[in-house]
Amino acid sequence: MGTERNVLVTGGNRGIGRAIAEEFLAAGHRVAVTARSGEGPAGALTVRADVTDAASLDAAFTAVEAEYGPVEVVVANAGITRDTLLLRMSEDDFTEVIDTNLTGAFRTVKRASKGMLKARFGRIILISSVVGLYGSAGQVNYSASKAALVGMARSLTRELGGRGITANVVAPGFIETDMTAALPDEQQAQYKASIPAGRFASPSEVARVVTWIAGDDAGYISGAVIPVDGGLGMGH
Ligand SMILES: NC(=O)c1ccc[n+]([C@@H]2O[C@H](COP(=O)([O-])OP(=O)(O)OC[C@H]3O[C@@H](n4cnc5c(N)ncnc54)[C@H](OP(=O)(O)O)[C@@H]3O)[C@@H](O)[C@H]2O)c1
Repeated sequence: MGTERNVLVTGGNRGIGRAIAEEFLAAGHRVAVTARSGEGPAGALTVRADVTDAASLDAAFTAVEAEYGPVEVVVANAGITRDTLLLRMSEDDFTEVIDTNLTGAFRTVKRASKGMLKARFGRIILISSVVGLYGSAGQVNYSASKAALVGMARSLTRELGGRGITANVVAPGFIETDMTAALPDEQQAQYKASIPAGRFASPSEVARVVTWIAGDDAGYISGAVIPVDGGLGMGH
């Protein structure tokens, strides 16, 4: 394995975040997850945090730093959907999604950057979505929040790139988690028909890309958008 790192994943109690935590653990890293409820996988340190609350994130980072030392790899994964068509979308539907998916990533990265700047090393990974650049009817709020993460990673790259810090976006397509299980069967079938791979992916297929981009072999990759979508978003 490569260098052992201190890793923090937001929303690591279930879904893709949990799979990411498991993959880092399997590769021998020290892993912490934030959770609003429940626990991360065995072997990970679980700390309570809500990404819409900067103070709770600050306390979570402080607890992780006390246990492991500075966070070297941060994965901003926590996210929500509030899908509905534009004319039915309330301002709350819009701002709640932005507050969690976009401002939540900003709060997480800002707090993580303190230790990374001091260490002159860091790996920032933002979990976006294929719909950020592809677009999706009924997801004006969600796709806007996910597209914005691309601008964030690229600005972070320009601002922090000279300090040994990389910032990349991983853009999953259709992954089998609670988030997608909530979609109607008809919509799931439509998606499947439009994915060149002809199938959905497991969370671990995203997780293995995240651990690779955080690893020693990926130190010269920054500001990239890495699709894990079976070809769905090609060219976007
Ligand atoms: N599934 C997909 O097909 C897919 C595709 C593209 C991108 N993504 C992205 O991948 C990420 C993970 O998605 P998933 O499918 O694993 O979703 P999920 O199964 O619904 O899990 C979402 C995770 O985010 C956490 N979370 C939500 N709001 C939070 C908040 N305010 N503060 C702290 N944690 C919060 C949840 O915590 P609680 O358990 O406490 O609610 C949970 O751990 C999201 O950013 C999502 O947009 C998913």
